[in-house]
Amino acid sequence: MSDFAELSLGDKKIQLPVIVGSEDEKAVDIGKLRDETGYITIDSGYKNTGATKSAITFLDGELGILRYRGYSIEELAEKASFLEVAYLLIYGELPTTEQFASFEYEIKMHTIVNEDMRKIFEGFPVNAHPMGVLSAMVCAMSAFYTGEKAGSDELNIIRLMSKMPSMATWSYKKSMGHPINYPNNSLDYCSNFLNMMFALPVAPYHVDPVVAAALNKLLILHADHEQNCSTSTVRLVGSSHASLYASISAGINALSGPLHGGANQEVIEMLEEIKADGGDTSKYIAMAKDKTSGFRLMGFGHRVYKNFDPRAKIIKKAADDVLSKLGINDPILKIAQELETAALNDEYFVARKLYPNVDFYSGIIYRALGIPTDMFTVMFAIGRLPGWIAQWKEMKANKEPIGRPRQVYTGATLREYVSIENR
Ligand code: CMC
Repeated sequence: MSDFAELSLGDKKIQLPVIVGSEDEKAVDIGKLRDETGYITIDSGYKNTGATKSAITFLDGELGILRYRGYSIEELAEKASFLEVAYLLIYGELPTTEQFASFEYEIKMHTIVNEDMRKIFEGFPVNAHPMGVLSAMVCAMSAFYTGEKAGSDELNIIRLMSKMPSMATWSYKKSMGHPINYPNNSLDYCSNFLNMMFALPVAPYHVDPVVAAALNKLLILHADHEQNCSTSTVRLVGSSHASLYASISAGINALSGPLHGGANQEVIEMLEEIKADGGDTSKYIAMAKDKTSGFRLMGFGHRVYKNFDPRAKIIKKAADDVLSKLGINDPILKIAQELETAALNDEYFVARKLYPNVDFYSGIIYRALGIPTDMFTVMFAIGRLPGWIAQWKEMKANKEPIGRPRQVYTGATLREYVSIENR
């Protein structure tokens, strides 16, 4: 294969280098296109634009493959702990026993959130959306850890991994009118989160190992997904040399949208609506196909997966397992299964290669674990945190230039100012 592509523009012919990745992914490097021809490329939604070279996550949307640092998502979700996967993403290799012990110890040493951060939190209304609160609190960390307290990148990575779960539980506690819980460093990462969420001062709380294992699996499945909307946001904000906190806070905001991480909340709300409406899934399938309805089947479709989403496969099985182990009979699971079967046999969804994505069944598990609906996207954010950190770290290590796309201008051409009384 040639190591360059040839492009003809009018009477000009130029050669553009071809780049090949370790999984034989091919790209044409258009970096010199404008200098040599005056043209830029345009690609709305970056559907066919590679923003970076990355060694973190590989996915093949046609074959339904997802790997973190070369390890298959199926194997990691089955065998690893979330913190091991976080270490793998951030530092590039699975940790040895000593490395893991030291990583976990460091995280435990920073779980307490500065009491002054609590004062900021107290200003939020009781019904504030937890995603808005989380992004604001993470952004506030950039004001707390500055100047003398700034610390190294390594320290800030640990601070974020430690404090984000603690802060995430505050919104739930406030919505319940309960006092917040402080972290318990004798517990592992997932159990500590569950304890902060559900323990009450009046009664001891025992972490159910089935619940902790389900949470561990979900966080691993969310941990990274290469250059998606929120991750690209983190890299783009970080490329201006904004702080890690500012970059991650921006990523949390990008994730909150219903077309991205916010879909997990929307899926449950949609399933609830179908249930309340008598459970007629065919009516909602018809609405999803009708472009004038403004309705989309939430949890369906993906920008890159055009065959199946490997995460959705694992989560569907886990939803069955967790509900049966916990003895929960959730009627919306049946509605979800009916919707999936109907869509997978419908020409509209088949032709457009629309399959259930990671968000379709994850909410059903979160609900079974007792997590309230408006916290679902926060759970996604806790899971995605190590991926965002790894991508930010890689962007910095590669000394990537500031992100600054161009545009094709379509507005008015030069015109003269007319004073207000003459308009
Ligand atoms: N329901 C009905 N029609 C759909 C859906 C859906 N969920 N998703 C896409 N389509 C149609 C769309 O109308 C278009 O049809 P046509 O070709 O006739 O105009 C075609 O399928 C292609 O859709 P698109 O919007 O051009 O595709 P995209 O790659 O820009 O969008 C998506 C991908 C995930 C935003 C979209 O599928 C969607 O809105 N899904 C629902 C929201 C959702 O579940 N989001 C979570 C994504 S996975 C978690 C994450 O990583 O964020």
